[in-house]
Amino acid sequence: MTDEEIVRYVVSRAVWAPSVHNTQPWRFTIDGPRLRVYADPGRRLAVADPDGREMMISCGAALFTIRLALRSLGYIPETQVLPDPGQPTLVAQVSWRDRAAACELERRLSGHVLIRRTHRGAFDLEPLPANALAALHDAATRQGTTLRVVADDGQRATLAAAVQTAEHQSRRDGDRLRELARWTPAPGSVRDDGVPATSYPARAERTLPYFPARDFARGHGWGTPPISPATSHRVAGVAALLTTTADRPADWVRAGQALQRIALTASACGAAVALHSQPLELPWLREFLRTQLSDGAYPHLILRVGLVTQVSLSVRRDFGDVLFSV
Ligand SMILES: Cc1cc2nc3c(=O)[nH]c(=O)nc-3n(C[C@H](O)[C@H](O)[C@H](O)COP(=O)(O)O)c2cc1C
Repeated sequence: MTDEEIVRYVVSRAVWAPSVHNTQPWRFTIDGPRLRVYADPGRRLAVADPDGREMMISCGAALFTIRLALRSLGYIPETQVLPDPGQPTLVAQVSWRDRAAACELERRLSGHVLIRRTHRGAFDLEPLPANALAALHDAATRQGTTLRVVADDGQRATLAAAVQTAEHQSRRDGDRLRELARWTPAPGSVRDDGVPATSYPARAERTLPYFPARDFARGHGWGTPPISPATSHRVAGVAALLTTTADRPADWVRAGQALQRIALTASACGAAVALHSQPLELPWLREFLRTQLSDGAYPHLILRVGLVTQVSLSVRRDFGDVLFSV
């Protein structure tokens, strides 16, 4: 393959990384055998994400996908994260020269890049397959982060209460509501970004404890109908916090790489991940979670992991719209 063919392939996969509100806040440039990943501040959530932390997490998820795609082609990626302090939007540059065949795990994760979807709502009653939790822990650790499973009932209730409080507050904040409205197109929209109505359930399923989803439908009744009316045996799943020891942009990119690795690992185990970042967008609640549930480490995302029968559909911009030559 030529360098250009390699880049087209890896970017066409990177765009399927998760991003906050599906803002896809990235662009890529090709310069010979070197790919650069840039954050696109024009797509940052100015109200919910003033520091750009979630934007950088999203770019980190795309970066992990690029590295994995290169591995699936048998290249060894050489990656520099935030290589130029004078260019804070340059998230990473990746080059490739040496070769080594992809291992079984890399091939398996790569096979889930296009089919992994964020879940919203409750999970099936069946527990995660044996070893799935160990694999998820390992996925976080390998990217220099920690996945803290919140297993204690009291702590799970505290975590759920933080999500409820943040969601309650967000639904009363005009600026946040207007920002959410910009990223939640109506059903039938031809937009290729934002959270489409095909990716969330029309009716919230209450679990114990209850982790409310964001109000993407905003009272319009949008969303997908449930597959079956029997929703009584559905659960919240395994709840966890993804944390880093510091809170600089490099840590945000790290958290993003970990997020994608965890999400692909879950998918490869037949499971799905639901995300709740509402409390982490409110500084006082993030600080509460840091001190009360994270041993002082910095929380970036609340995750729930479980088995699902319903799969959501999402949209993406074409790789040609985000890839530029220099
Ligand atoms: C930093 C970050 C925060 C997110 N927060 C939430 C959230 O609070 N609620 C939610 O339902 N999804 C959340 N997501 C998932 C995105 O909405 C999702 O990745 C995007 O809509 C694309 O859909 P897909 O992951 O199914 O491809 C978040 C993703 C990222 C990267």
